[in-house]
Amino acid sequence: MINIAVFISGGGSNLQALIDSEIPNGSIKLVVSSSAKAYGLERAKLHNIEAVFEKDQTKILTLLKERDIDLIVLAGYLAIVSDEIIDTYQNRIMNIHPSLIPSFCGKGFYGIHVHEKAFERGVKISGATVHFVSPVVDGGPIIIQRAIDVSDCQSPKAMQDKVLTIEHQILPEAVRLYCANKLEVIEERVIIK
Ligand code: GRF
Repeated sequence: MINIAVFISGGGSNLQALIDSEIPNGSIKLVVSSSAKAYGLERAKLHNIEAVFEKDQTKILTLLKERDIDLIVLAGYLAIVSDEIIDTYQNRIMNIHPSLIPSFCGKGFYGIHVHEKAFERGVKISGATVHFVSPVVDGGPIIIQRAIDVSDCQSPKAMQDKVLTIEHQILPEAVRLYCANKLEVIEERVIIK
């Protein structure tokens, strides 16, 4: 069984998608939030999943080790994961980003800001990316990407809502593949076995 920790900072709709999805061989054991007010904490508690508000990365690493966590999933997590955690969990931390990396990613591109820039640029297609986390923000090996037509979106919010539907599909898919041991990273590229 793969023990999973999910890191959140806000509403937790991606966490909810994971909770609601079938993940053979995987079990969410811990939710860590960088915000005490994150509704995602409530979502976890409603499903009897341990949920903690903790910002100190050293304390978080201790929590992970105490619970034998194998896989970390960043789901709307806005804090910076420490190099110590990234080094300890090399290619065992996934992140969901609301654009088709390498478009609209990197420093400052998070949440609605991603869609504001995409809307401003007038993109007709957007989408989401699940990737392994590396020390470079949004720079790790790409696991899954899925595109969606956003040409009818009249606002960044409308774009975000459309892209979120994709996020809620591909994040559970990526976690399922990991838990089924079907992901291999060769020279920074993810191979699905
Ligand atoms: C969403 O914009 C998602 O793309 C990004 O974080 C935001 C909030 O996600 N990763 P959630 O509803 O808290 O999962």
